[in-house]
Amino acid sequence: PLVTTKEMFKKAYEGHYAIGAFNVNNMEIVQGITEAAKELNAPLILQCSAGARKYAKHQYLVHLVQAAIEDTGLPIALHLDHGADFETCKSCIDGGFTSVMFDGSHYSFKENIEKTKEVVEYAHAHGVVVEAELGQLAGIEDDVKVAAHEAHYTDPNEVEEFVKETGVDSLAIAIGTSHGAYKFTPDQCTRNEQGILVPPPLRFDILEEVAKRLPNFPIVLHGASSVPQEFVKIINENGGHMPDAVGVPEEQLRKAASLAVCKINIDSDLRLAMTAGIRKHFNEHPDHFDPRQYVADGRANIKALVAHKIKEVLGCDGKA
Ligand code: G3H
Ligand code: 13P
Ligand code: ZN
Ligand code: NA
Repeated sequence: PLVTTKEMFKKAYEGHYAIGAFNVNNMEIVQGITEAAKELNAPLILQCSAGARKYAKHQYLVHLVQAAIEDTGLPIALHLDHGADFETCKSCIDGGFTSVMFDGSHYSFKENIEKTKEVVEYAHAHGVVVEAELGQLAGIEDDVKVAAHEAHYTDPNEVEEFVKETGVDSLAIAIGTSHGAYKFTPDQCTRNEQGILVPPPLRFDILEEVAKRLPNFPIVLHGASSVPQEFVKIINENGGHMPDAVGVPEEQLRKAASLAVCKINIDSDLRLAMTAGIRKHFNEHPDHFDPRQYVADGRANIKALVAHKIKEVLGCDGKA
């Protein structure tokens, strides 16, 4: 069934695991994700950005997710990722989503509260849950690039008042993750013996402080792709050019999932999986021109990636 995240988050919090929130933009992405979740009996959040709604159209996304629910029988939440304003949130609430994010992280604390509250009131009156954000991640989302020096960590002193004033159901925080496939610049990292970039650790001290102030409250991690180097390698060996793409190490995500983090957002890794599959296919079969042949390889990579995330990172297998 199409569900909100309420029950999922309660069980995840108590069970010390997290739910994967995967960005969807087309049918094969939806299928790759949901086929893996079905085999592992995992609860799922499928999320759509403004860019996804522009690319695929709202109706197509809703019906694709509905089809996945019919196909898998899994509890799936349909979530708006990074809602920029009340109108976008309202259109998703009215249009069948069960969860929305209002992203007011770039506003002042006071304005973020006021705008979030307005969305919460409308959403709750319609049985929809709301995620908000405090603190600002570095990286790229919807073509907006937040430079590292403009990014700032969440201030744990603000979270209690924010949640109390707004009535939000979950809170995204900034503890050093970042959007996109280039999360850290080489100068922010060290290099291991193989020359692979090793990023700076996440600020678990901030997460723990936030969790102390908000007992039993679900925390969300954005920008949580791990940028698997095997996909980067396949891309680069098959005509791609993604030097120094780097993500958040999986063991840190596992640790976050075992703590108050109940939702882990993954988009870039899906893109890498799809692109690696298609690039390799094109390179190996220059004569192919049927999209079913090459997109299927991208979809298979997504399925394998999501199965890995569910079992080895999120720990939500068998929890549906
Ligand atoms: O946080 C951003 C997500 O990766 C969505 O990206 O806005 O390009 O669809 P998008
Ligand atoms: P990644 O770019 O790390 O996949 O983050 C996705 C995200 O936070 C979507 O909201
Ligand atoms: Zn995000
Ligand atoms: Na958790």
